Amino acid sequence: MEPKLVTEIIHSPTDRDLRRAAALLCAGGLVAFPTETVYGLGASALDATAAAKIYKAKGRPSDNPLILHLANPSQAALYAEVSFCFEKLASLFMPGPLTVILPKKPLIPDTVTGGLQTVAIRVPVHPMAHQLLTYVAGPVAAPSANRSGRPSCTNASHVIEDMNGRIDMILDGGDCDFGLESTILLPVDDHTVKLLRPGAITVEMLEQNGFSVVLDKAVTQKLGENEQPLAPGMKYRHYAPKAEVILLDGSRERVVTYMEQRADAGTALLLTDEMKSEVLGQKPDVTVLSLGKEGDRLTQAHRLFTLLRTLDEHPEIRRVYAALPATDNIGLALYNRLVKASGYTVLRL
Ligand code: TXA
Ligand code: MG
Repeated sequence: MEPKLVTEIIHSPTDRDLRRAAALLCAGGLVAFPTETVYGLGASALDATAAAKIYKAKGRPSDNPLILHLANPSQAALYAEVSFCFEKLASLFMPGPLTVILPKKPLIPDTVTGGLQTVAIRVPVHPMAHQLLTYVAGPVAAPSANRSGRPSCTNASHVIEDMNGRIDMILDGGDCDFGLESTILLPVDDHTVKLLRPGAITVEMLEQNGFSVVLDKAVTQKLGENEQPLAPGMKYRHYAPKAEVILLDGSRERVVTYMEQRADAGTALLLTDEMKSEVLGQKPDVTVLSLGKEGDRLTQAHRLFTLLRTLDEHPEIRRVYAALPATDNIGLALYNRLVKASGYTVLRL
């Protein structure tokens, strides 16, 4: 039997609670905290033993590196080799939902970087995360706070579901604003970046600020047996509910018609408000989950992981149909999470 920890759950933490959480992190403990993207599971990034506990609590493969969270981008130079490109990205988008990969300095333990010579740097804008990091006054290694293979946690009840009894403390700061994980970039030269994971900082935003953006293949396509993604985590089947997810690629009319023909009592449909009203009348026994209004992709991003978790509460659902989203702006982040949830199963209609 695994030893069970008593997890302290703090709803609406006070400043005093945040200082206590920071002290716990400095003493080698594990604390889950909210950020503007998803909840993180933090440990001191300078303490190899503490960081190793994260992998155990999550059931995470040890070759999948952790992101270093800092209170301020100026601290990055203490732990990584910063560059012109990083400084420019930091001045535009930090603090915010962006992670940048840089060559690491030796004081960051190999446990944190999964043995890589690079380290991921992120400066969250969420006030509670910022305050906690300020009190720690050092880097906090934090992956998303879900058990490995489950959708990331976008509220504290998801964290409690996955981590109660496995970590020391959960700080409940309510719902995360964005609901999908940060954009990950690898600088190539002064003005070129490789996009390893799409998020709220979009390709369009980067291009408007003079960057050229190269998409890593793993963002949109399944890699071959011998191919390795640049972000090791992208190779694992993430975000997957227990039911089979099938994405439908075609006009709205074709997608709705296909859903009407195929959906039965063991099926769930993941769609927009507009599509829901079209399909619902015909299919009263089918579980229909709406991501939000068709044009409101921020709400769709915000709801996706909660809906994927909801599906797991319905063991009778064996198959999920969802429309493949467009890939412009934050659509690319939704597209990426959905193709991963489906194991790249896309039906062209
Ligand atoms: O929004 C986020 O980024 C959240 C919050 C908590 O900050 N964190 C998060 O962490 O999503 P995680 O561990 O679930 O995802 C980190 C991703 C993984 O795919 C990992 O492989 C990649 O970042 N990564 C970390 N360090 C890397 C490195 N040195 N080189 C390439 N990829 C790296
Ligand atoms: Mg994760």
